[in-house]
Amino acid sequence: MNSVLVIGSINMDLVVETGRFPAPGETVLGQRFSTFPGGKGANQAVAARRLGAQVAIIACVGNDAFGLELIEQLKAEGIDTRHVRIAEHISTGVAAITVSQAENAIVVVAGANHALTPEDVVAAEAAFVAADVVLCQLEIPLAVVAAAAGLAARLGKPFLLNPAPAMALPQTLLDQLTLLTPNEHELSLVFPCNEGGWQALLGKYPQRVLMTRGADGAWFADTTGQLRHQAAFAVTAVDTTGAGDTFNGALAAFWGQDLAQLTRLACAASALSITRAGAQGGMPTHQDLQAFLER
Ligand code: RIB
Repeated sequence: MNSVLVIGSINMDLVVETGRFPAPGETVLGQRFSTFPGGKGANQAVAARRLGAQVAIIACVGNDAFGLELIEQLKAEGIDTRHVRIAEHISTGVAAITVSQAENAIVVVAGANHALTPEDVVAAEAAFVAADVVLCQLEIPLAVVAAAAGLAARLGKPFLLNPAPAMALPQTLLDQLTLLTPNEHELSLVFPCNEGGWQALLGKYPQRVLMTRGADGAWFADTTGQLRHQAAFAVTAVDTTGAGDTFNGALAAFWGQDLAQLTRLACAASALSITRAGAQGGMPTHQDLQAFLER
């Protein structure tokens, strides 16, 4: 199993459940409030770890109750948190999440996630050396992502980027990616001037862009430019928060396998993740995943 290095965000998720999303200016009654560990970086780290990978994370939290609790929770999962810096005078990242009928709407306040610096990446070079694969998202400054991609390239490590939340990316960064894993909406933001739709775009980046499409599963183009599809696994959804993170964590955990097989494993892990509340609540262990695939 791989040694995975995640560079990314750590948030406390403040979750309200409600029968329907409020319209702007409207107040609706909710059923429940919960706090869950979250943040795309932490979620992807936990997903990879539960599936059996060795995982380390480079991140930043505030010196507050949420930050300290979230570090303890990552340690309890067996994740190496030596490169999680505790910053003064800034709050830990939080995400205000409304969940309704298994769908979600999220507002993230980055807080200490945006205090992560390229110097933090440079200082953790030993963690890059030890990693088989490096995994990043975009809830941290782009300069940090660029530094991580550059270091991974210099050391010859595969670099996976989940471009969420999405933005246009510099060509130098795109050139350093081993795999980009957007959903359909993110793909259109990363490549804003694309003609020919997502099919053409995937064909332009064979084996380098793997697009998730919710209930339609995932798509990529193989080395011949042919589109390949993995159907989603049917489950009863409780909370879709963290489904994409589980997908990415699984890709990193199983990295090295053929992309079609990897995509199947990641789709299965991500299906299981939405069967419980909270971003990390339903993330499967390797055993859970195997049992699910055998069924
Ligand atoms: O991808 C889900 C995550 O996005 C949540 O855990 C929340 O913290 C936001 O970062």
